[in-house]
Amino acid sequence: MGKDVIIACDFASAEETIRFLDKFNKIRDEVVSCDHVSISVSRPFVKIGMELFYAEGPQIVKTLKERGHKVFLDLKLHDIPNTVKKTMQVLGEYGVDMVNVHAAGGIEMMKAAKEGLMLGAVRYADKPKLIAVTQLTSTDEETMHRELLIDKPLDQVVRQYALNAKAAGLDGVVCSAHEAADIHAACGSDFLTVTPGIRLAGDSAGDQKRVMTPADAKTVGSDYIVVGRSITGEPKPIDAYTKCREDFIG
Ligand code: C5P
Repeated sequence: MGKDVIIACDFASAEETIRFLDKFNKIRDEVVSCDHVSISVSRPFVKIGMELFYAEGPQIVKTLKERGHKVFLDLKLHDIPNTVKKTMQVLGEYGVDMVNVHAAGGIEMMKAAKEGLMLGAVRYADKPKLIAVTQLTSTDEETMHRELLIDKPLDQVVRQYALNAKAAGLDGVVCSAHEAADIHAACGSDFLTVTPGIRLAGDSAGDQKRVMTPADAKTVGSDYIVVGRSITGEPKPIDAYTKCREDFIG
């Protein structure tokens, strides 16, 4: 996998999601090559989050895979290792391209997640990437200190969580773009940084506290940017997506 823009399809139903993704049919299909990976512009890489998955179940993954999308299933598992392993096995069977856990679950849980995922994905040649959420991009240092009673600096916590994920054999982390360079320095350039909290210049941050533009995310070395409302909430989402791609990849 190379650099790409992942659209967060935070919609309430399959119908709404398909209606949104159908708009991309109008784009002339241009398969661009980036880091030796082909990316279909009219079938963007999409992220299915909890809202859509819990509303529609596994069928939504199947539907989007059949349409030709790469799918990041963002369910952020966090439970005891045995439960996470068995659940990951189920998710691996869906043929997802990327899936995640919370790094706060610890190394043993992350190792179990990887084992389960690989068992589930045994019949797929392209193995799914497993990444760990460090700290949510809606959490800032003050919240971490005051509510979670984690008194270390945010960047140190994020770095440690990333090192734990690497020790567990994961492919990378979900983190703020502000942390991408530091994580690559600590974990190596092959360790993926998947960065939400992305806003086009002038867009409202909403509930996100640590935001960055696609152009700046490129500069700091993010591998994937996850963009929701800056694309899905726009009157011209294709233009917004194209702008994100140009600024991040082009
Ligand atoms: O609309 P917006 O661009 O803020 O959406 C960001 C997406 O990335 C949401 O689907 C959110 O759940 C997800 N996410 C995040 N921060 C993380 C992990 C995932 O915002 N640390």
